[in-house]
Amino acid sequence: MSNKISVFDTTLRDGEQSPGCSMNLQEKLNVALQLEKLKVDVIEAGFAIASPGDFESVSEVAKVVKNAIVASLCRAAEKDIDRAYEAVKHAAHPRIHTFLATSPIHMQYKLKMSEEQVLERTAFAVAHAKKYCSDVEFSAEDASRSDKGFLAKVFTAAIAAGATVINVPDTVGYSTPAEMVEYITFLKNNVKGIEKAEISVHCHNDLGLAVSNSLASIKAGATQIECTINGIGERAGNASLEEIVMNLHTRKDYYGAECGVDASQIYRASKLIQTITGVPVAPSKAIVGNNAFAHEAGIHQHGVLAERTTYEIMRPQDIGIPQNKIVLGKHSGRHAFENRLTELGYSLSKQETEDAFYRFKVLADRKKNITDGDLDALVAMKFETVEQHYKLDNFVINSGSKITATATISLNVNGEIIEKVSSGDGPVDAAYKAINMILDKKIELDNYSIHAASEGEDALGEVVVRIKLDEKQTVGRGRSTDIIEASMLAYLDGVNKL
Ligand code: KIV
Ligand code: ZN
Repeated sequence: MSNKISVFDTTLRDGEQSPGCSMNLQEKLNVALQLEKLKVDVIEAGFAIASPGDFESVSEVAKVVKNAIVASLCRAAEKDIDRAYEAVKHAAHPRIHTFLATSPIHMQYKLKMSEEQVLERTAFAVAHAKKYCSDVEFSAEDASRSDKGFLAKVFTAAIAAGATVINVPDTVGYSTPAEMVEYITFLKNNVKGIEKAEISVHCHNDLGLAVSNSLASIKAGATQIECTINGIGERAGNASLEEIVMNLHTRKDYYGAECGVDASQIYRASKLIQTITGVPVAPSKAIVGNNAFAHEAGIHQHGVLAERTTYEIMRPQDIGIPQNKIVLGKHSGRHAFENRLTELGYSLSKQETEDAFYRFKVLADRKKNITDGDLDALVAMKFETVEQHYKLDNFVINSGSKITATATISLNVNGEIIEKVSSGDGPVDAAYKAINMILDKKIELDNYSIHAASEGEDALGEVVVRIKLDEKQTVGRGRSTDIIEASMLAYLDGVNKL
């Protein structure tokens, strides 16, 4: 009989903590709905006490999610726990996830607490959470650098106070697979009441071992895995959900474990996170990278054509990569358009389909072949829901190898057309300077990236910028067949968000 592994997704909490991956409320709700389609067991929706925005997103996610458990993270402090419950109480299946560090380094320098105090606080926090919620998870932060004997005492106290899940985080990505096995085995043998709780692991990827450490822990008896889509997260990220799930699917013979995730939703989930965060995965990324299923070498192609399993251990359709690459164009009708969206796994409302079809027609006037990549980009525009106070009205750019680039930009600012001219170090810089002049604001560009959202010579260029005004930071996205226009649209998207 195979073990059932719970998949705890923390894309909306730990994932969102990664640089440049912050999401607004609407984006978080879209991610939560995709996670439901993926059939993860737990959605960690945020850290409710961190800010009013975080609180709101946890409670809104709690309201829309029907099947998965919705968790909020909180420190082991009364106020934090109260706030976490306030946010998750709307959920069909709420969980409070409280944590306290247990390693000597963290206890001495960060918490300034003794072992006795940590033990006492653990019991208090879990008992307090338990007053609200039957499902309480306790995490021993930096567990993998903690003394095993002390860790066992802490988890014993947590379970005695009512914890239903005990989590072993490799907070700084320091552990090795063999050490994770040692920890889990030790805890199974030394934590009193361990049979009453689920054992979870939460591995970071600082040394590139997050997935290996998670899988080794499953082998040793962990039954909950904490992970994120595309492995996004603090620093080098968290264990990647898609890699763990596909390891369990592909090597069921080895792990003897399975999870309830619907693997055919993986590709869509990965694309959604890339679209929303503007952070693309590397082409060679396992499972969801563009090259993950591409066979370049002749000998491999020959083998795959003769018998797929010679070089393929998974099929692209297993993770939901659309198979028949239909190309749409100017003359494609609404029916073909809607059919293709459905085949690509989208389920849009009537209004969203209407809006996307309009954008499709506009694009088809500029671009002969509309590919799946273009459709992804067109649908992604629905996430750009901010009010457009500043709209691009017109632009003229002059640039060349022997002249200073200049940009004449006119914006529609709440109905009024304002035009400014600026020079700059290249066309994009000139355009951004002209926009800043219109806004009369010192917006700083922190990061700029551009890639082709689809294939072919007339591909849609997608620009993602991170911009800053005072202490506020945001990500803006823009797409166009003209990359200078895409650059301006991305900048204005960010400006409207700010
Ligand atoms: O990495 C970590 O230790 C965490 C815990 C708060 C679970 O994210
Ligand atoms: Zn973490």
